[in-house]
Amino acid sequence: MKYIQVSDTHIFSEKDKELFNINTYAMLERVVSYIQSENRHDSDGMLITGDISQDGSMESYDLAFSLLSKLSLPMFWIHGNHDVLDNILKSSEKYHAERLSRLDGDGWGLVAIDSTFGNNDSGSINDNEMDKLSKLANENKQISLVMHHHPVRIGTPLVDACNVENGEEFMRHVGEIDAIKLIICGHVHGEYNVKMGELKLETCPAACFQWKKGTAVVETEAISGYKILEFSTQGHQSQTIYLR
Ligand SMILES: [Fe+2]
Repeated sequence: MKYIQVSDTHIFSEKDKELFNINTYAMLERVVSYIQSENRHDSDGMLITGDISQDGSMESYDLAFSLLSKLSLPMFWIHGNHDVLDNILKSSEKYHAERLSRLDGDGWGLVAIDSTFGNNDSGSINDNEMDKLSKLANENKQISLVMHHHPVRIGTPLVDACNVENGEEFMRHVGEIDAIKLIICGHVHGEYNVKMGELKLETCPAACFQWKKGTAVVETEAISGYKILEFSTQGHQSQTIYLR
């Protein structure tokens, strides 16, 4: 199974609004046209890993889903710290996008973990989500967790200041479940790969802009990115595409 991962689109209620002088709608439009030109990479669908909206408005979700639905691919989303869950749920119903719970195929299970924590920029994994891990103890498939926040530091202080607050505890539980081979997330606005023994964390670049790697202050790069993830019984492969 093959999925396109699009993350952190940060769309506003109006098409011409900018975030750090970058028009997030235009950046997503460019990503969508590029994916269209690549014949959608023959993928099975799209994983949208949170921060779909910047302002949480209904209009922003309608704009985002209406643009993404041009790809005519099944859309599966999770929400991020900037999102307003009620509004995504209403909008996604109109555009037939589905809140990701779990997807299975080719010896893999992709399991959504909610890392959001009230109105905070940082994340936290609550007891319900922790319990999802224990249920994977006897899993005979390879598991990838799909979340918004990064559970371990990636070396860019600006975003490491708002990672999963109880990340150490979460990763201890993850380490006890052999089936979990991969964690994919968004939030960090950049591609990072962290190998922890058999387990890998792969982050997705944002569709709207990247934070400069290693920065502790606001420094943006007006580059869009997305990933293609291919899962098979042999393992997984990923490819990152940047549009400059
Ligand atoms: Fe975020």
